Amino acid sequence: MSSTLVLGCMWGDEAKAKIVDYLGKDTDVVVRFQGGNNAGHTIVTGGKKYVFHAIPSGILYPKTKCFIGSGVVIDPFDLLEEIKLLESNGLKLDKRLFIDQRAGIVLPLHKILDERNEKRLAEAKIGTTKRGIGPAYSDLTARVGIRFLDLAYPDYLKSRVTELYRYHGIEISKAELENEIVPLLKAMEKLKHYINDVEVLLAIAEGNEERILFEGAQGALLDLTYGSYPYVTSSRVMTDAVGIGTGFSARNLDNVLGVYKAYCTRVGEGPFPTEIDDEIATRIRTTGNEFGSTTGRPRRIGWFDTVAAKYSARINTVDNFALTCLDVLSGLQQIKLCTAYKYHGHEIDLFIFHPMEMQNVKPIYEDFPGWEEDISACRSIGKLPKAAQLYLEAIEDYIKSNLMIVSVGKDRKQTFTIKP
Ligand code: IMO
Ligand code: MG
Repeated sequence: MSSTLVLGCMWGDEAKAKIVDYLGKDTDVVVRFQGGNNAGHTIVTGGKKYVFHAIPSGILYPKTKCFIGSGVVIDPFDLLEEIKLLESNGLKLDKRLFIDQRAGIVLPLHKILDERNEKRLAEAKIGTTKRGIGPAYSDLTARVGIRFLDLAYPDYLKSRVTELYRYHGIEISKAELENEIVPLLKAMEKLKHYINDVEVLLAIAEGNEERILFEGAQGALLDLTYGSYPYVTSSRVMTDAVGIGTGFSARNLDNVLGVYKAYCTRVGEGPFPTEIDDEIATRIRTTGNEFGSTTGRPRRIGWFDTVAAKYSARINTVDNFALTCLDVLSGLQQIKLCTAYKYHGHEIDLFIFHPMEMQNVKPIYEDFPGWEEDISACRSIGKLPKAAQLYLEAIEDYIKSNLMIVSVGKDRKQTFTIKP
């Protein structure tokens, strides 16, 4: 396979980075195409933990090139911190990290607006990561946003930033404008050698038959349109977003690998049909360390929802899928799998996304026996306890896709591919 997309297929935090890292050793280029530093991608290797926010996880492989596409929004100050941290760990980024000149900039103003919006919404808040992601994307859509290339033209940048403030009903003085621009230009000085044209770089890479891996952030159920709006992120989190966010058309993808976790989690507000809030949830949260890698918030926990999973596989043309964190379920007496919803007294298998409809949705469960064994050393399906095998087969049947990769622990080594 020369081009593969690794896409989170639920509400984010499906351990996508683990799969990107697992496939990364056979990859020449890893590309982020949407989102920003609202993402928190964790990789554990050699006893060390790395958390990536804007930089593609492929950076851990010294020969892999990493691209940040036009669809990503970047906070230049946070990015510099992320780069500094990686360099202090001995990683070299020069001539390996490339940022598209069209990528949007997250300004300090966007973080203020994000915070303010959440405060205003009070009880109805989205539960954002407060990284300014929504305001940055909406400004780009309104054509008042700032992009990386603008930073090469200080006078133009000044007029754009002034207009941006005006757009938000704020008049800024000359001194205030300088306060905004000077640090931006300083940051740009340090970042400018990373700026490039990712669309062109990808065309070259494809021409050279390099192996390209696209790394999704967030998850398809957080997609701006196809997720549970308004409790979504502000980017497109779908297979088709690859083309929009890089210039490399999704038509050219050879393989779409969906990533699901063995149970569900969600951070932030919004509908979550299979949510549980009992001692089992607490146990899963503790065992799986289900706390946000970006914000530290405890994640909400739920049983695997095959209705949502099937919807996500369908809208993203998922070819096959990876299932992560199976080890977290070890020791549970019983595991529930949501196979349909009861909706206004009828049994349906369609994803319901409107918040007002959620009160009419009740998950229907099939019960599976759990397993006691520690599975973290298993490296093939046949070595898993029979109960775990049955659970995986049922998920495969319900979401109508092929299970290709299973992960049974946090370390890079605790992953295996299912031989066809
Ligand atoms: P990774 O890539 C899980 C959620 C937030 C909130 C909603 C909107 O690590 O899977 P935003 O800050 O994007 O405006 O917040 O989206 N969210 C995530 N949830 N994993 C993520 O990223 C997320 N990025 C955003 O919690 O509900
Ligand atoms: Mg995360």
